[in-house]
Amino acid sequence: MRRIVILTGAGISAESGVATFRDADGLWARYDWRALATPEAFAADPDAVHEFYNARRLQLPQVAPNAAHLALARLQRDYPGEVAIVTQNVDDLHERAGAAEVVHMHGELAKARCAACGAVVGWTGALSRADSCAACGAAGRMRPHIVWFGEIPHHMERIAALLAECDLFAAIGTSGAVWPAAGFVEAAREAGAETVELNLADSEISARFDETRRGPAGETVPRWVDELLAGEPVASA
Ligand code: APR
Repeated sequence: MRRIVILTGAGISAESGVATFRDADGLWARYDWRALATPEAFAADPDAVHEFYNARRLQLPQVAPNAAHLALARLQRDYPGEVAIVTQNVDDLHERAGAAEVVHMHGELAKARCAACGAVVGWTGALSRADSCAACGAAGRMRPHIVWFGEIPHHMERIAALLAECDLFAAIGTSGAVWPAAGFVEAAREAGAETVELNLADSEISARFDETRRGPAGETVPRWVDELLAGEPVASA
């Protein structure tokens, strides 16, 4: 039985209607991440940052998991070995597709965190400076539970342990533009894992993979999962 580690990026949610970051129509083509996705930005203009994440949080009920999210949940359920999903995405589409124990290294839109005491709570509506922490009572200190540029991604020890043990590493729908996620393929290779990239186009890290599969995740991921579940060898390039 192989231990599979899957890293997903914004591309897996694109067909669900969730904007990516670096595609031509992506968020960073329309907004300045320096003004919206850094601790300094939040200190300087918390209302603008809240507005940016509120719009994305309030979109979540309008979007649904696509065939790629559903296929990964099926793989976790039916594959006899361990299947870990590590995601850079902050949407809840993996969970809504039925995936378990999803490791959100960049945080989650559907949660808020108290900057005073660190308490993390589920949050589905708009968040603002008017909100107080239910745990410590601090007023105006609630922030999106999102890892901003310059902050340390979450669950890195767990991710390192998963990569050190994995036999098959797949990166789905990520540009490989942001570290440390962009380096996960190297850690997997050092562990002796087979590596496969599923993406619509070449990424910054495509050359590091044994195999690359091109096409929309909604088509490539279900086919890849069917092969794994049929026990067919995942052909390496
Ligand atoms: N199917 C498969 N891949 C797709 C699809 C699709 N339908 N649509 C786009 N892609 C691919 C693009 O080719 C690109 O490689 O998804 C990737 C999207 O790249 P980014 O927008 O950079 O998203 P991601 O790699 O997840 O960004 C990493 O950057 O801004 C930070 O925190 C943010 O988590 C994010 C991180």
